[in-house]
Amino acid sequence: MKKITIAIDGFSSCGKSTMAKYLAKKTGYIYIDTGAMYRAVTLFCIQNGWIKNGLPDEEKLREQIETIHITFVLNPDTGLPETYLNGKNVEREIRSMSVSDLVSPVSAIGFVRKAMVKQQQEMGKSKGVVLDGRDIGTVVFPDAELKIFMTASPEIRAQRRYDELKGKGEDVCFEEILENVKKRDHIDQTRAESPLQKAGDAIVLDNTNLNVEEQNKWLLNLFEKTVNP
Ligand code: DC
Repeated sequence: MKKITIAIDGFSSCGKSTMAKYLAKKTGYIYIDTGAMYRAVTLFCIQNGWIKNGLPDEEKLREQIETIHITFVLNPDTGLPETYLNGKNVEREIRSMSVSDLVSPVSAIGFVRKAMVKQQQEMGKSKGVVLDGRDIGTVVFPDAELKIFMTASPEIRAQRRYDELKGKGEDVCFEEILENVKKRDHIDQTRAESPLQKAGDAIVLDNTNLNVEEQNKWLLNLFEKTVNP
């Protein structure tokens, strides 16, 4: 069967990764979590002490950007891919609030985006991939055969992230998460480099009132229609 490229873009905490992981599993495609890549670059800055007043030291980061290599390795126990930063598993650390708070300014830097987009295009060049992010359908793979743009209300997205972090045993505050979601929406939409926007040919999915089963059904149907028109 012919393989396609699937681009899933949208606001943070819309459930893009849940959807992308499900689709990758059902189709046997490779899942590439591009947000995890920007998170790993952010962690790299934190580890090197390059954050001052909530912003990364761009000069230091620019010097080292070509030394940052991000890969995804399947965890045989969970069957899910995990993020590695220069060979080290950072899957847990990149989901922390300290990384979430700093990732937007890091991902807004032009040379960071250029380096990550290059790695993403390399990983997806043979098709048979599902990528989620903000600029997949517009910049990384503008020729993707299937593009989905996801959205949901900020409150429902904050609640989902709160439940997820609580479930992992983290001590989190709902108001703080809601604030973080809104702040990231604003930065993601207004940044000069590849702002979050819907590709002209993307299909919009507002999942505020959809449960996971309904969403998955819709998704598989759409995939089938795209592969076998
Ligand atoms: O999807 P996420 O919350 O893990 O993404 C983390 C941050 O990275 C988010 O603030 C936006 C940014 N991002 C981006 O700019 N471009 C992408 N392709 C993916 C994520």
